[in-house]
Amino acid sequence: MSGYLEVHGLTVRASDGLPLVDDVSFELGVGERLALIGESGSGKSLTSLAVMGLLPEGLTASGSVRIGGTEVVGARERVMNGIRGRRAAIVFQEPMTALDPLTTLGKQLAEPIRRAARRGGVRLDRGAARDAVRRALDEVSVREPDRVAKAYPHEVSGGQRQRVAIAMALAARPELLIADEPTTALDVTVQAQVLDLIEGVVAERGMGLLFVSHDLAVVSRMSPRAIVLSHGREVEAGRVDELISRPREEYTRQLVGAALELDRALDAARGAEEGGR
Ligand SMILES: Nc1ncnc2c1ncn2[C@@H]1O[C@H](COP(=O)(O)OP(=O)(O)O)[C@@H](O)[C@H]1O
Ligand SMILES: [Mg+2]
Repeated sequence: MSGYLEVHGLTVRASDGLPLVDDVSFELGVGERLALIGESGSGKSLTSLAVMGLLPEGLTASGSVRIGGTEVVGARERVMNGIRGRRAAIVFQEPMTALDPLTTLGKQLAEPIRRAARRGGVRLDRGAARDAVRRALDEVSVREPDRVAKAYPHEVSGGQRQRVAIAMALAARPELLIADEPTTALDVTVQAQVLDLIEGVVAERGMGLLFVSHDLAVVSRMSPRAIVLSHGREVEAGRVDELISRPREEYTRQLVGAALELDRALDAARGAEEGGR
């Protein structure tokens, strides 16, 4: 079976021609999961952004990225508008990237929900939109959804903000979710909860997941397979359990060492959370 996401020879160059992502290839089938792991600066975010056709000014992609059979590299904005949100959506490390500080969270979440409904031929009136927002907030386990819907982004916690950003990413029911360090900015207890949330909705909806992290402990919870990146290139790839038990490269071995420590912290955080219920 060919993949839902097919990346072949993806290269991202800076304006001086230097490759920041260098000949990266991978495939992700419907409902499958894959992680990109590597230290800061290894090219994980640029790979994710290139997949979404969202590279910053001055950077250019070459090679091929296909989502559901549609070529993304060099695609016109009109083509990308049909893909972004609807076939593939992205969640960033910093939820404010996706949020408008001057608009209430409920109003922001209502926008993609209304758009998705309109495409299905349904016009949501105010009450119906409010109910749909409420359901979307419930799905991402936002506590006090009515309060959060009326709040501005700065009025809720970082964890709640990220949950809302996830709800926005899910609003048009994309087949693929790209999560780029979605919990790196959160403290360790909240991190565990948001990972569980992403894991839960992806499983529930049968979505594909491209999960990006510098952290092998986090990756091992989210994806059975990973690609290890360093300086924009693939160092090794394979099953996460094998990368952990039998890393072939020294670079991977170092990631494993750091992972063991955080894994203990996450377990402790989860234990504290469960004990507190
Ligand atoms: N807009 C940009 N212009 C030039 N270089 C960039 C830009 N964005 C990122 N880079 C460089 O590309 C490399 C990969 O960055 P990135 O994909 O963000 O790494 P990661 O997400 O793995 O931490 C880094 O060396 C970074 O400095
Ligand atoms: Mg990054």
